[in-house]
Amino acid sequence: MERDQFMELTVLPGTDRCGEREGFDRITLRPGDTVSIVGSTGSGKSAFINDIEVLAQKDTVTGRSILINGAPPSDDMVRDPAKKPIALITQNTRVIADLTVSRFLALHTKARDTDAGELITRTVALANEFTGEKIAGSTRMTSLSGGQTRSLLIADAIMIGQTPILLLDEVENAGIFKEKVIRCLKHYEKAVIFVTHDPLLSLITDRRIVMKHGAVVDVLEPKDEEREMISHVSRIDAFLVELRERIRAGDLITGDMPMCRMPRVTA
Ligand SMILES: Nc1ncnc2c1ncn2[C@@H]1O[C@H](COP(=O)(O)OP(=O)(O)OP(=O)(O)O)[C@@H](O)[C@H]1O
Ligand SMILES: [Mg+2]
Repeated sequence: MERDQFMELTVLPGTDRCGEREGFDRITLRPGDTVSIVGSTGSGKSAFINDIEVLAQKDTVTGRSILINGAPPSDDMVRDPAKKPIALITQNTRVIADLTVSRFLALHTKARDTDAGELITRTVALANEFTGEKIAGSTRMTSLSGGQTRSLLIADAIMIGQTPILLLDEVENAGIFKEKVIRCLKHYEKAVIFVTHDPLLSLITDRRIVMKHGAVVDVLEPKDEEREMISHVSRIDAFLVELRERIRAGDLITGDMPMCRMPRVTA
């Protein structure tokens, strides 16, 4: 399904782990929407996005169902990956094919019946905006790191797959530049759901789904209330990114970093 054919995806409620109906009527996702899913370990976050990925019809453990453009998805869409409007990328997503990056993207380009060439170069360039260590077209897919693989797959879903809906399950830990990814996804009008334990990522999405005992217990839409905290957390995050890079580069961390210039936030 191409971007212009996708108007909305709807999640209809199921039940929590005790069989109680969960606390929302429907959750609707449209192009350009960014949503995070938060909740403790085992609260059902991955199950929620897996329901979307498989286009559940009350046939999963949660009993949820998914509508595309207001109707149950066609059999075609459920069975044929090329017709599915959804890409799921998890921490374990790996590409085991023994191909170079360029060849992998070229095959995908063909499978999707789009023009190749420039597109491959632009896709690699986009992936390199998300990741620290640069990827070359000649790199073998199997030798990419976890973070590089996920960066490439996100860029691929945006540029080549033209997938309108992206589901990202805890991809932030691999040093992907989060704000850049969000800005880019918004620019290309993707609908995106992040399962995340990362405070900044949770705060910068438009909506935040809160999970407990296998069920959605709240859907927060903070608008401006969290703006001040976002800019504070963003500075802390930038500090941590720099710290991580310096530790990775083998620097000795001696206290000359600008942490103390950050304003304190009072509750
Ligand atoms: N509504 C539900 N009813 C019954 N079982 C559920 C429900 N939701 C999730 N589960 C089950 O609970 C287990 C944990 O759920 P899940 O893996 O989604 O948690 P998670 O929030 O992603 O945890 P983590 O942060 O560790 O990744 C899974 O086996 C899942 O199938
Ligand atoms: Mg999970």
